[in-house]
Amino acid sequence: MNKQLRKAVIAGNWKMNKTPSEAKALLEEIKPLVKDAGCDVVVCVPYVDLCTALEATKGTNIGVGAENCHWAESGAFTGEISAVMLKEMGVQYVITGHSERRTYFGDTDVTVQKRTRAALDAGLTVIVCVGEYLEQREQGVTAELVAMQTKIALGGVSKEELKRIIIAYEPVWAIGTGKTATAEQANEVCAQIRKVIAGLYDQEAADGITIQYGGSMNAKNADELVAQPDVDGGLIGGAALKAPDFAAIVKAASK
Ligand code: 13P
Repeated sequence: MNKQLRKAVIAGNWKMNKTPSEAKALLEEIKPLVKDAGCDVVVCVPYVDLCTALEATKGTNIGVGAENCHWAESGAFTGEISAVMLKEMGVQYVITGHSERRTYFGDTDVTVQKRTRAALDAGLTVIVCVGEYLEQREQGVTAELVAMQTKIALGGVSKEELKRIIIAYEPVWAIGTGKTATAEQANEVCAQIRKVIAGLYDQEAADGITIQYGGSMNAKNADELVAQPDVDGGLIGGAALKAPDFAAIVKAASK
């Protein structure tokens, strides 16, 4: 009902794909295809591709994001990158809490909160990922789990800061598996997350926040997913690596 109050955001999450030269080539292909987008377009790329992506997208409608950040501004954290570093480069977005970070690299709700805090403090817009494993869905705890992930990630985030938060609902069982959530399943959980936001803040905040769906979204299923009343775009993995597919998803979200 309040979908028109929000701008849809289509964000590519390139994960650990594309060398800098490949990143440049892909962005040159994407640029003309999305230049008239009626939604926000973002590419979240590996750290080593950020310079290339910022250069290639200068003066375009494509925003650039990183895929993670550390919570400290600087210090003895070998191999890590801080939000302040990203901001100084000109990066606008960062993903926190992606299920691959949670599953393979020990991220927890608490570290997701810390990363989100640091990113907001640095002035970035944060795409906070939440989502359940298949076993959790089968046990019927999806709503509770996703509510808890959302609440902890947003601990200490003010209503003003919430304007720089995007939530991505990504059911883990749908990521990279080709098994998309049905449009109804995606909408149901996005609506539940919106209710959590209304409880934490107020209805205005809930109506204004962008909540994406992610998990095997592609050129074929995007239309139906992004048309759902509580789904405000998508976080796209595999299909973001093919310019025509990514552009088709952007087009679907521009309607
Ligand atoms: P796929 O689109 O490849 O399923 O990945 C989704 C995802 O994890 C985006 O963050």
